[in-house]
Amino acid sequence: MKVLAIETSCDETAIAIVEAEGDEQSAQFRVLGNALLSQIDIHREYGGVFPALAKREHAKNLVPILEAALEEAELLREDTQAMPEETRAAISELLAREPGLAEQFFDFVSECEPPAIDAIAVTAGPGLEPALWVGINFAKALALLWEKPIVAVNHMEGHILSALAENNSETLEIKNVELPVLALLISGGHTELVAMNDWLEYKLVGQTRDDAVGEAFDKVARMLALPYPGGPEISRLAEEARTSDVLASPFTLPRPMMHDGTCDFSFAGLKTAVLYLLKNRPELTGEERKHLAREFEDAVADVLWKKTARALEETGAQTLVIGGGVSANAHIRRIFTHKMKSDYPSISLRIPSAALTTDNAIMIALAGFYRARRKMAVPDITANGNLSLA
Ligand code: KG4
Ligand code: ZN
Repeated sequence: MKVLAIETSCDETAIAIVEAEGDEQSAQFRVLGNALLSQIDIHREYGGVFPALAKREHAKNLVPILEAALEEAELLREDTQAMPEETRAAISELLAREPGLAEQFFDFVSECEPPAIDAIAVTAGPGLEPALWVGINFAKALALLWEKPIVAVNHMEGHILSALAENNSETLEIKNVELPVLALLISGGHTELVAMNDWLEYKLVGQTRDDAVGEAFDKVARMLALPYPGGPEISRLAEEARTSDVLASPFTLPRPMMHDGTCDFSFAGLKTAVLYLLKNRPELTGEERKHLAREFEDAVADVLWKKTARALEETGAQTLVIGGGVSANAHIRRIFTHKMKSDYPSISLRIPSAALTTDNAIMIALAGFYRARRKMAVPDITANGNLSLA
């Protein structure tokens, strides 16, 4: 089955075409085409992602990204058939809210034969609703024109399934996964522990009561006058502190809710502790900034590990996956790899390859395949910024 997947939930415009086969326990994926445009440089000026700006950029970029993905997949064929008038009218209506998108769409698709794909998958949430809607309406327009089924994908399911996939040079493979799976999902908008007891069946085990962990990284980075997104910047400083001669950090930050007996998180207090520390010490030296970044990262990693270990015990999980943008963090990856080996050697740990940790459309294609093969296509899809898995 060939799936064309569209992702526009935040600040990445991405389309991938993936050929998938197999079943839930054992699936293989070949990426035929993958095009992605990050808006980070645009949002960086504002210190965060602005929904209206993200939406406008998605609308501008979707057609060129589609063309690039189809071309890479060698699925571009010139079309000679004229589009029926009622189809054109319906598509104009679907795309009416994005200035210029309908014109760009008609210009491109009028010269492109329906590609040999079997389903279209699109992210329906969670994310920024205005941004999600652009992708959904675009997917609907393509589905209408090409007469293909369309499946709604939960972005977090994409993170989980892609984290389960192993990269074997030519293919991505999901195989030998022992259930239940516990997923630690850490991104700019989410911090949650989710159990997958059976394929595509989820139960929420724990979640943040305030800020998401990526949000805490980004806010602390801003306090340190580092550019957006802050996660990689904090990580860079912290790694420098770890390779310095100073063994112990001169700062101590709290580990919120570490021993409260739940699998929930809280990061607002940690962020505030950094704020107060900086108020009392406005003139930190370069070295001190590095040690503060390191202590912050240590505090985050300690709490994430402690809560995950508790959730592993509670759920009896046989597999642990870590997904979402923050799973790119080198220190968190190290701590989890080390702790799993020493404390839970019989549980397998899956962390996605670097290219799959941040938002992309390949993960949406993987989840789309799982949904499409269960015939979970739906006639109407709406954006849901707070869409939850469980
Ligand atoms: O999953 P993602 O790409 O987008 C969503 O939020 O859905 O995650 C983005 C978040 C940002 O908060 C960013 O600062 C954080 O992931 N991030 C990191 C690292 N790389 C990205 N946080 C810590 N360390 C990193 N290396
Ligand atoms: Zn994400």
